[in-house]
This record gives sequence, C-alpha cells and structure tokens, in this order.
Amino acid sequence: MMEFIKCVIDKKVCRDCNFCTTTNICHSPNECVGCMSCYWACPYEARKIIYLEEERPRVRIRVNGIEYEVPKGITVLRALELIGYRVTRFPEKDSISAPCRTGGCWSCAVLIDGELERSCITPVRDGMSIRTDVDGREPLRIVHGPEPHSVGGKATPWYEKGYRYVEVAIWVAGCNLRCPQCQNYHVTYDNTTAPMTPLEAARILTYYRKYFKVKGIAISGGEPTINRRWLVEYFKYLREMNKEKDTRLHLDSNGTVLKPDYIDELVNAGCNNIGVEPKGIRVETFMKITGIKNRDLAEEYLNTSWNAIKYIRDKYIEEVYLGVGIPYNSAFMTLDEIREIGERIADIDESIQVCVLDYFPIFRRRDIKRPSPSQMLEVKKILNEVGLKFVIVQTSLGHIGP
Ligand code: FES
Repeated sequence: MMEFIKCVIDKKVCRDCNFCTTTNICHSPNECVGCMSCYWACPYEARKIIYLEEERPRVRIRVNGIEYEVPKGITVLRALELIGYRVTRFPEKDSISAPCRTGGCWSCAVLIDGELERSCITPVRDGMSIRTDVDGREPLRIVHGPEPHSVGGKATPWYEKGYRYVEVAIWVAGCNLRCPQCQNYHVTYDNTTAPMTPLEAARILTYYRKYFKVKGIAISGGEPTINRRWLVEYFKYLREMNKEKDTRLHLDSNGTVLKPDYIDELVNAGCNNIGVEPKGIRVETFMKITGIKNRDLAEEYLNTSWNAIKYIRDKYIEEVYLGVGIPYNSAFMTLDEIREIGERIADIDESIQVCVLDYFPIFRRRDIKRPSPSQMLEVKKILNEVGLKFVIVQTSLGHIGP
C-alpha cells in the first residue's frame, strides 16, 4: 500500500473566480495526480487534500533508457523520486530541482517523449519515455512583461529615481515560498502562459531598454533565482547585448537560494544590481509571512537570505549595487522586529539601501489593512535611528526617502 494525494474542490468555499481555469490550469483534468498546484494557487483556499492509502495499477515508463514500473495516477516528478532520482528544493548539481511545484519556473523540466516539459505537473502515462539530461536544450520559463517602471524595486538606486521611467522589468512565474499575501500572485502561480528562452527574454528587454532610454533592466517574480540555468544564461545574453558600463542588470530576489557560488555565477554573468528581501529576522515571522511550515527549511531559507546580503556586501561592494527589502504590515511584524532587522543590516553596513514595502491586502490575506503613510514613516524613523542612511518606504502616496 502506498500513500497518494488527491485534491478536491470545496464548492462551499469556491468563489468561481476562474483563476484555476485561466491562470493555474490543471494538467491532468481527468484524474488528479496529486501535484497540488491548484491547492497552492487557489486564492480562496477552496481546495482540500485527501490522503489515500491504496494499491494502484502500474504503468511502464522508460527513464534514460531503462524500463521501470510506477503507480498510475502520479506526476512524472514523483515517479522519478520513487525510482531513486534526487529531487531538491535548492538548485543543486546532479539533482532535479523542483522548487515551485506549480508549473511556473520550469526548473524541474525533463524531456518527455522528446519535448521539454515540467515534471511537477505532468502525469505519468504508460509507455512514456523520459530523459533527465536537459543540458543540450534551451531552458524555459514563464515571463510576464516587459514593462517600463517608474519606481523600480528595492535595489534600484534611489538617486536614479525621479525620471519618468527608471528601468524596464519582467516578472517570472514560480516561487519557492507560499506567502498568503503574495503581492504578485497572478504571476507567481501562472502555469499557462507559453514560456520563453533566456535569449528571447534578453532580446525583448534590450529592445525595451533602448526604446524607453533607461539604464536598468530588472527581473522580479515570482522568484527569479529558482531556475538557475535560465537565470544565468539570461544575464549572460543581457550583458552581451548591453555592454555599456552604466547599464544596470538588476535581480530582485527573496535571497532564499542565493548561496555564495550562485551569487558568484550571477555576477560573472553580468548581474551588477541585486535586491534581497529576507522577509524577517525571526524564523516564526518568516514562517508566518512565507507560509513555509517546515521549520528546518524555513531556517535554511532565512539564513541563506541574510548570508547572501553579507556575502554580496563583503565581496562585491565595488561591482554590485545592493539593496535590501523589508516587508511591513502590523498583521505580521512588530516595530521591535523592524528595529532588530535594521540593527542587523546596519551591522553589515549602514550605507546599504533599504526599501520597506507596505504589504497590501491580496490573495489569501484580503483581511489585512495596508499600512498608512504615517505608519510607514514611523518604520522609516526607527530604521534611521539605528543608523541606516538610505531608507525608502513605499506608501500609498508613493515612495518616500531616503
Ligand atoms: S518545480 Fe516544476 S515548474 Fe517549478
């Protein structure tokens, strides 16, 4: 007997918002394969999980030339895990990295009957042929945008703001976190839009940068770093196409998978502007904000994010413009914690640019209130008091600071 998962719609909770028929679409509509993509994506939490212990008929699949039998009605990713392939949350070598599991990031893609496809949402089928070595294929990712941006992100240098547009940006689908107040959920949980290669994204952004006459090209999400191969290639192409020294190639990240070797690879590829948003300083707050329930994983993500800030500051102070983001809403963070965060950043370097984001009600936290401009100014005052020199707060009236 094995345990399987099945997701069902709770009709009493469903609001017919159509998110699951337009943006996060089931890739196995006739038989739930327990991928849980719809469970994570439903804005009204109208999906319930049923755990089943049962015997299932088996299907035959061929993986890298070897034949296996696996239970029917599961994802390709689970089948690969069952036959011994290593599946990870972090982008690691010799593993299948599956960080979002909602079909947006394409990091888990394998060749299925010769076509690149996402293993996390694709059902196994009898006779399927799978190859896990995809290095010879262009990576893919769902991309929204580009759009010109008048304020930029947490690491957009404050002294560049004030022009009509400060950068052009794309937002990529898929995230390794499950924030109930995800500020961009229609991008994060999109598994439907046709994906782009890094070359296609770099070409269109370069065109937009020239058209809007801006210095910055930004990538945000979702979480850009969770498809490592795609992101590194994207920065390489961008740098090749944008050789001017003052062009800012800007990565906006939660920092949770940005380990030192990955940061080195990104900087070598041409990224020279990085924003990191560690979401908190206490693991309990991090878990509340991000929806990550596994404490060990939450701790690892949180530490990786803070270590990334220090590593970038210490190693790349000359080459990379660094910004730190702090999410604020009194529903999930106290002013004491804001002070602690400020002290930790000031301890690394008082000159790091800090941008506090006033998290507004959206997605699964429509019950919270957007912080008022005066609350945000109180937050700014605390951060200035601990010594931080360049603090910007996002408010409903626009950005204020430094
Ligand atoms: S893990 Fe499969 S698409 Fe992100």
